Amino acid sequence: MARDREHALNTDAIQQEQPAGPATGWWTEAVIYQIYPRSFADSDGDGMGDLPGITARLGHLVELGIDAVWLSPFYPSPQADAGYDVADYRDVDPLFGKLSDADRLIGEAHGRGLKVIVDLVPNHTSCAHRWFTEALAAPPGSPERARYIFRDGLGPDGDQPPNDWQSVFGGPAWTRVTEPDGRPGQWYLHLFDTGQPDLNWDNPQVRAEFLDVLRFWLDRGVDGFRVDVAHGLIKQADLANWEEPQEILSGQEAAKPRPPMWDQDGVHEIYREWRRLLEKYSGERVLVAEAWVEPAERLARYVRPDEMHQAFNFEYLLAAWTAPAQYAVITRSLEATDAVGAPTTWVLSNHDVVRHASRLGLTADGGRHNGIGVGDPQPDAALGLRRARAASLLMLALPGSAYLYQGEELGLPEHTTLPDEARQDPTWQRSGHTQRGRDGCRVPIPWEADAPSYGFGPTDASWLPQPSSWAEYALDRQRGVPGSTYEMYRTALRLRREHGLGRGPLEWLSTGDQVLAFRNRGLIVMTNFGAAPVPAPGGEVLHSSAPLDADGRIPTDVTVWLRP
Ligand code: GLC
Ligand code: MG
Repeated sequence: MARDREHALNTDAIQQEQPAGPATGWWTEAVIYQIYPRSFADSDGDGMGDLPGITARLGHLVELGIDAVWLSPFYPSPQADAGYDVADYRDVDPLFGKLSDADRLIGEAHGRGLKVIVDLVPNHTSCAHRWFTEALAAPPGSPERARYIFRDGLGPDGDQPPNDWQSVFGGPAWTRVTEPDGRPGQWYLHLFDTGQPDLNWDNPQVRAEFLDVLRFWLDRGVDGFRVDVAHGLIKQADLANWEEPQEILSGQEAAKPRPPMWDQDGVHEIYREWRRLLEKYSGERVLVAEAWVEPAERLARYVRPDEMHQAFNFEYLLAAWTAPAQYAVITRSLEATDAVGAPTTWVLSNHDVVRHASRLGLTADGGRHNGIGVGDPQPDAALGLRRARAASLLMLALPGSAYLYQGEELGLPEHTTLPDEARQDPTWQRSGHTQRGRDGCRVPIPWEADAPSYGFGPTDASWLPQPSSWAEYALDRQRGVPGSTYEMYRTALRLRREHGLGRGPLEWLSTGDQVLAFRNRGLIVMTNFGAAPVPAPGGEVLHSSAPLDADGRIPTDVTVWLRP
């Protein structure tokens, strides 16, 4: 049946007389700001960011000029993976506040014209979820176990894992349980931490439960869901061996066979069902896929007209900082989403990757670095910030929807000398201390240079230590200061809105090895990636990521917006 539907859809796409047409709606050109609740603002001084802290700081986001926020998980959780291990999908963890604090946050955000997207984690629950506790207490073969992926082990004693899959965080993807009678028993699958058992999406109970969770938050007024690990829900039925190591950010190259745990065709039916539910609600509620899937055409399948609305463009995030690489990824991304009538999205930083102000100061290859720590080669902070500003201005001029990660509007770097003892990302432990992991981009952000915890909270408590050099990045050092990164973002967001840059279309003017230039809605946007300054096209400079030189030329690693 799923196959029939896909077939019908493909046929539609070929009938050129009646193209679906590009999607319309707030989300097609929205700038969406990711809040990582643990690290945005702490209202009670316990060193952990919380929902009342966010509500109190909404004014900042309005002033910045974004359209929507996406909140990383705030649900009850043992925090084995910073909240991406959910024990109860319908409540708020006391660390972050109460359910009424979520309601207040949603209401106040709406009152200020901001949309609210929440995180949904359907691939796995926490091991503290009631379902998993019930599964452990029930025998092999029971309905309780059938909500997860339990299997007998291999070998005469069943003491070998059922297959060779590796966890994304390192180590085996299977853990053996002790049966209620005290004997070593079955194994359960966890593509991430041991505390994150994978759900069995072939089980109708699991499907029904998540429809209900969606309804719960839709009824509370949320404008959409960012869907965690959207490419992982369905596993190849035979759970075939796959000797490759897992990496959360690796994506899949077109030529390689598809791994049995990622991007299986069966996931699409799930999102079609969710889309039908969202369509029953007023307003335009959206689904955003976190799917580390390549190539772009494969990712575009998640945003076909009857599935999700958007998918994060990680190929863009990973692209090298060179003119040819940026040109290639931008054109490929636009073509792939145009083909299905969905908006393209753009993103440079999030809570899983090294912040772009540091990434681009380490190397221009854009490659993946799973954390940076003491003893690692350190980024060139000035170069990184310069390129990050140029990259952000280039991104914000592209048609489609853009995602910002809290703190990037301050030019915030990664904490690259975080003491290893302070690390909390399970990656560090599970990889046997070979991958430092993601703590460096998750450090609480600075608001006031001279306040305790830089104004993150009323005390100097901070769940991850903040570097002593962060005063200069604090919001109050940048607000109203011409040329600051914060004012650069504000101006960019204002101009983007005034000129409708999110709507495009984009027309390339220069695609050489050193310089990229395009026209979008009457503005010319130009980035110089080369080693030497280049003449700016004639016209009025509306915005730039750094000043032009004395001869009016565009220096290296600078983006300019001009009105011809
Ligand atoms: C997603 C999240 C990441 C989390 C993982 C497991 O990739 O962005 O932070 O660790 O899923 O839920
Ligand atoms: Mg707190």
